[in-house]
Amino acid sequence: MQIGHIPLPNRLFAAPMAGVTDRPFRQLCKRLGAGYAVSEMVTSRKDLWNSLKTSRRANHEGEVAPIAVQIAGTDAQMMGEAAAWNIDRGAQIIDINMGCPAKKVCNKWAGSALMQDEPLALEIIEAVVAVCAPRNVPVTLKMRTGWCDAERNAVRIARAAEGAGIAMVTVHGRTREQGYKGFAEYDTVSAVKAALRIPVVANGDIDSPEKARDVLASTGADAIMIGRAAQGRPWIFREIAHFTDTGAHLAAPEVAQAKSWLLEHLHDHYGLYGWDDDGAGVRSARKHIGWAVRALPGGEAFRARMNLLESCETQVRAVTDWFDALADTHRLLPRAADSRIDEQEAGTEEESAFA
Ligand SMILES: Cc1cc2nc3c(=O)[nH]c(=O)nc-3n(C[C@H](O)[C@H](O)[C@H](O)COP(=O)(O)O)c2cc1C
Repeated sequence: MQIGHIPLPNRLFAAPMAGVTDRPFRQLCKRLGAGYAVSEMVTSRKDLWNSLKTSRRANHEGEVAPIAVQIAGTDAQMMGEAAAWNIDRGAQIIDINMGCPAKKVCNKWAGSALMQDEPLALEIIEAVVAVCAPRNVPVTLKMRTGWCDAERNAVRIARAAEGAGIAMVTVHGRTREQGYKGFAEYDTVSAVKAALRIPVVANGDIDSPEKARDVLASTGADAIMIGRAAQGRPWIFREIAHFTDTGAHLAAPEVAQAKSWLLEHLHDHYGLYGWDDDGAGVRSARKHIGWAVRALPGGEAFRARMNLLESCETQVRAVTDWFDALADTHRLLPRAADSRIDEQEAGTEEESAFA
């Protein structure tokens, strides 16, 4: 599996998720089996590049290559400039966001809304490729199946994108109108795969090794991308790798192992967002801890208690004690009940991450 000239160790990708797939989380996914992870989107609005949020998103210190940055916007020239700015900060691959119901940028809707305006979508693709190609940086595209049920234009856009020099296309099997409702469909992903020579990545609702195997087989996709199912369960990548390689399930991680992965993640997280009491580090870590425990016995009650803690030290202590108590009764992490992030929550989180 390659993106342009860049080889990847496998075909299991972590999806970009604003407010989730920051550098510490991407590192964790890569350590636990993801062959590739895309950053949260960086806006093409220059006036926001100096904001704390964007500077954190553009920070790739110590990140395992390849460093892939997603950009979002509605103006071709600005998108080209955003690509150059991110390459100067370490991006080795640029991904264009045409998949998210992103908020308005410069009075126009960005993200998947671009699928409604094919000439503009192509103009943006061409402008970004024109900036990236001389720098030897591949450009990829992430999109949905179309704007709405009646307008599933993914194949048309993907073909035009390939013609314009895009190196890989990812398709989330839902329309823009669907948000996160219903189920992802993979027929459109198969159609895109059949129409292109460049790699195509299938995305949407892949939450188990069996589902990963089935989606790879039914779409013929070159890779799969996983978003919500990796929240609180970043080891899903190695579970899938093991299953697709051997046909057998990997045992659940030991409780002590899951604890140490979470604690390492928290330390990296505070390193990026700060260790201050009641600061961004302790607040934004709550959701990661919540995802990690929510489906475990007593997890919901712990989550409620943990959300009241206001310092990184007390958070670390509480997580340590809680997992140690779980380890007294379970050696392996108990199989979680269905912990899927529901559609309402996914949409709300995604929207608020753009705010
Ligand atoms: C909280 C959240 C934030 C997201 N942010 C982005 C984003 O910044 N860029 C993007 O292309 N997709 C974004 N997505 C969409 C995911 O990349 C992915 O396409 C979608 O969640 C479907 O995959 P899944 O079913 O494996 O989660 C986001 C999704 C969620 C839940």
